[in-house]
Amino acid sequence: MEDRVVDGKVLNQEAEDEKSLRPQRLNQYIGQDAVKENLRVFIDAAMMRGESLDHVLLYGPPGLGKTTLAAIIANEMGVQLRTTSGPAVERPGDLAAIVTALEPGDVLFIDEIHRLPRAVEEVLYPAMEDFFLDIVIGKGPSARSVQLELPPFTLVGATTRAGMLSAPLRDRFGVMSRLEYYEPKDLEDIVHRTSDVLQTEIDATAAEEVSRRSRGTPRIANRLLRRIRDFAQVRGDGTITDQVTREALDLLQVDTLGLDEVDYKLLYALMDRFKGGPAGLDTLAATIGEESHTVEDVYEPYLMQIGFLQRTPRGRVLTPMVYDHFQREVPAEWK
Ligand SMILES: Nc1ncnc2c1ncn2[C@@H]1O[C@H](COP(=O)(O)OP(=O)(O)OP(=O)(O)O)[C@@H](O)[C@H]1O
Ligand SMILES: [Mg+2]
Repeated sequence: MEDRVVDGKVLNQEAEDEKSLRPQRLNQYIGQDAVKENLRVFIDAAMMRGESLDHVLLYGPPGLGKTTLAAIIANEMGVQLRTTSGPAVERPGDLAAIVTALEPGDVLFIDEIHRLPRAVEEVLYPAMEDFFLDIVIGKGPSARSVQLELPPFTLVGATTRAGMLSAPLRDRFGVMSRLEYYEPKDLEDIVHRTSDVLQTEIDATAAEEVSRRSRGTPRIANRLLRRIRDFAQVRGDGTITDQVTREALDLLQVDTLGLDEVDYKLLYALMDRFKGGPAGLDTLAATIGEESHTVEDVYEPYLMQIGFLQRTPRGRVLTPMVYDHFQREVPAEWK
């Protein structure tokens, strides 16, 4: 993929595509019907009253469309979107700089909101509730607290785990929407939409195959589609056929359920080292050389969704389905 250079900046084509792939309006956002329906009502109601939308918390596994939805909310409300993330807002002053620059009604999107430092969180409470900031200026004996009035705004927070949010923060969101893994049919529609945007032909059966192997996740579907398009261009006539798709996905080591190398490492470790489990999260993560929170947020939710893994009080446990998938005998003590 060639990069373009504009004003001395290298524009990566995939980053450009990523922008155009993002649906801009609620009616272009595929799937997640329950979330969309609710948001539609709350947005329309706020618009009718001429008020800012209540604060929205979006949670769910990575790549399901939280960032996309935040931008859509701003578009639908006809306001600006300001974006930051939990780890980027290091001190209360950083937050003050951001919220005092907001225009009335703006959407402030805080990604990874569970990673906001505690001290920042505390400044955020009154900002969310009553639209004012309580900040301390200066240090030592000359320090004084000042209150700043803020324009009404909508905070949209995104997190992979709502459970990681402190209760007082969670309670200040009027709308909480959980994004689910996409149904195969919805993912298929996304694959077709992405192919259109990329101006690539795709056979219906190929789109089905891609969606089956994308772990219910649009980001993965889009990524696989780009790679398959490369194969189709180099090895075929550019059209994404069923055959090119299967060959490409096999070469990319994406299995029939969409499981990848890390899933395999995890499942094999559980089968071979821990005899099917239970294994503690930290031990398991260390065994396969991944961060615990990556295993917990990225890999486990899908494995649980397809019924391969269970979280028990004693640790992670495999189900017989895994042994079936790998055509192996279940441990003797399970029989
Ligand atoms: N409902 C949808 N319809 C069409 N495309 C979608 C939809 N949801 C997500 N996408 C596509 O999937 C990609 C990933 O979405 P997005 O970046 O919004 O996910 P995310 O939930 O914010 O992920 P993360 O938790 O990693 O930040 C985007 O490029 C977007 O084009
Ligand atoms: Mg995101």
